[in-house]
Amino acid sequence: MGSTGKDEVFTKVEGPIIVGGGPSGVAVAACLKQHGIPSLVLERDDCIASLWQHKAYDSVKLHLPKHFCELPLLGYPKTYPKYPTKDEFIAYVTAYADHFGVKPVFNQRVESAGYEPERGVWRVKTQDTGYESRWLVVATGENAEALVPEIMGSEVFEGQVMHASEYKNGSVFKGKRVVVIGCGNSGMEISLDLCNHGAVPFIVIRNSVHVVPKEMFGLSTFGIAMTLLKWLPIKLVDKVILSMTNYIIGDTEKLGIRRPKTGPMELKMTAGRSPVIDVGALSKMKTGNIKVVEQGVREITKNGVMFMDGQELECDCIVLATGYKSNVTSWLKGSDFFTDDGMPKTSFPNNWKCENGLYAVGFTRLGLLGAACDASKVANDIGNKW
Ligand SMILES: Cc1cc2nc3c(=O)[nH]c(=O)nc-3n(C[C@H](O)[C@H](O)[C@H](O)COP(=O)(O)OP(=O)(O)OC[C@H]3O[C@@H](n4cnc5c(N)ncnc54)[C@H](O)[C@@H]3O)c2cc1C
Ligand SMILES: *[C@@H]1O[C@H](CO)[C@@H](O)[C@H](O)[C@H]1NC(C)=O
Ligand SMILES: *[C@@H]1O[C@H](CO)[C@@H](O)[C@H](O)[C@H]1NC(C)=O
Repeated sequence: MGSTGKDEVFTKVEGPIIVGGGPSGVAVAACLKQHGIPSLVLERDDCIASLWQHKAYDSVKLHLPKHFCELPLLGYPKTYPKYPTKDEFIAYVTAYADHFGVKPVFNQRVESAGYEPERGVWRVKTQDTGYESRWLVVATGENAEALVPEIMGSEVFEGQVMHASEYKNGSVFKGKRVVVIGCGNSGMEISLDLCNHGAVPFIVIRNSVHVVPKEMFGLSTFGIAMTLLKWLPIKLVDKVILSMTNYIIGDTEKLGIRRPKTGPMELKMTAGRSPVIDVGALSKMKTGNIKVVEQGVREITKNGVMFMDGQELECDCIVLATGYKSNVTSWLKGSDFFTDDGMPKTSFPNNWKCENGLYAVGFTRLGLLGAACDASKVANDIGNKW
């Protein structure tokens, strides 16, 4: 795939080629427009922000207040609530793209991209055709591919196994026993949604995790942490956040949720592991409506899940809330900017520019906030050379 036969046609693109039509890709295209620079956005799916349109559960809302999740140049409508819903977020990104005249080419999966040093261009191939440009912007996201662990026995299970990205809502699970594996934001919120739809959820929590309240005394926990970080060292900020957390939601260890030794903000900055923002699952755990299983899964059986201690739990469905991964290294050749796990080698804020006109937007582990920062910087940089 990497070689470029002489008979292949690569259409010259005026301006950068942007891979991915999610919030990051749309934002960088909009910022480029602002500099008077055209671009070509290639999107594998059939719509913009397809992660949100096709792969997010119905009940999801922004976890952080909207002003932390704005794309550059155009904020959320004033009428939006503090935490926009999934539909509101999709409407925002759609209106944003319309406003700046960003029109991705849909159903174009980039299968390979490589640099031609003699001519100084990037050549990009989709399943249908080829393009070339001096600039290539990678905006395929930290969530390009579902992370599905190989668990022994999945094939003998008589119920249904799905990844969290396939879960929409709990209406079809009413009265059903569902085991949710993984305790990040998705796992916790899907368990809560199941509970709200009259299902019987079990959440499997093997690793330690920080759960923090969404707000403290009317202010978002994230906002408080960011403000404190301007004045205090991160370890102290974590101490403050954790003591307030204990005060507000109590000791989560009692519910079977161990806290990591490293504090929540430090863990986010150093390892990219976001704390779980509680939107109601904890109180359902306290009442026993969501049952916590503090065990690793050994295997899947005909009727359910077997844990490390040999206990078996019968269930009708298993939801793998096991996360996502970047998919860049599978198609981008000739650059060592990305590590094998598809993330830039350098971390925020030095994660957006690499050699030969290659850029990355949205690989900051800081969500939409990081993506917005990257998008402006990339557009400015290309603008200076245009
Ligand atoms: C359930 C859920 C809730 C979230 N909540 C928040 C939140 O509250 N706040 C926040 O800041 N972040 C949140 N996030 C993180 C999320 O990653 C960002 O909100 C945002 O979607 C990132 O935008 P992006 O454009 O970088 O990546 P994506 O939205 O993933 O967009 C990347 C696009 O690239 C396309 N693509 C991938 N590979 C190729 C290829 N080879 N060729 C062509 N196209 C390709 C994909 O189809 C996709 O449309 C959430 C994520 C999930 C899953
Ligand atoms: C990741 O990229 C590879 C190579 O393009 C592709 O075969 C695979 O299907 C991709 N996965 C997803 C989920 O897009
Ligand atoms: C739940 O999801 C189904 C599709 O899976 C949809 O038809 C239905 O409207 C949703 N129910 C609610 C209450 O949102």
